[in-house]
Amino acid sequence: MSNIKVLDKEFEPYLSEELIQQKISELASQLNKEYAGKRPIFLSILNGSFLFTADLFKQITIEAEVCFIKLASYKGTTSSGNVITAIGLDANVNGRDIIIVEDIIDTGKTLHHFLPQLESSNPASIKIAVLLNKTEALAYPVKIDYACFDIPNKFVVGYGLDYDGLGRNTKAIYQLKA
Ligand code: IMP
Ligand code: MG
Repeated sequence: MSNIKVLDKEFEPYLSEELIQQKISELASQLNKEYAGKRPIFLSILNGSFLFTADLFKQITIEAEVCFIKLASYKGTTSSGNVITAIGLDANVNGRDIIIVEDIIDTGKTLHHFLPQLESSNPASIKIAVLLNKTEALAYPVKIDYACFDIPNKFVVGYGLDYDGLGRNTKAIYQLKA
């Protein structure tokens, strides 16, 4: 595999398509066992997690539903920033088992802001499944239940993840070249 250029930056191969798919298969097997008979809702957070959600969901063999929401971070004049819901939840989650599907957890801010909103709709349970977990960057108290990869605090693109809107359309994941 060779390096890729996205806008002004160069990225080098980091996680291969094969490795990503292997970890997703393992996660799917685990979820197929743990959620058998529960008809969980996979709640995918757009945009970054669309490929991960698709590949994971294709390997879910139990009864399950999928839905999508879009959360956006807006950095205002204050340093804290703000998370708004750009496309909301249309499913009735009351009494349901929810698996949140995220591409990457960085500071945890996005989910930390969204979780109380979801909890107020009284689901039976909420678990969080992420493809990539930047463990060192976590700054908000968010518990990650399933992570395919723990990665260092370095910027990555590919397989749904973007740099300024670009670089999502690759099968592998690439890391910013030092
Ligand atoms: P958090 O709210 O700080 O956990 O950030 C989560 C969001 O930041 C992700 O859903 C991504 O959209 C974005 N993000 C964080 N790290 C990266 C990265 O290395 N590459 C691309 N996007 C990232
Ligand atoms: Mg995301």
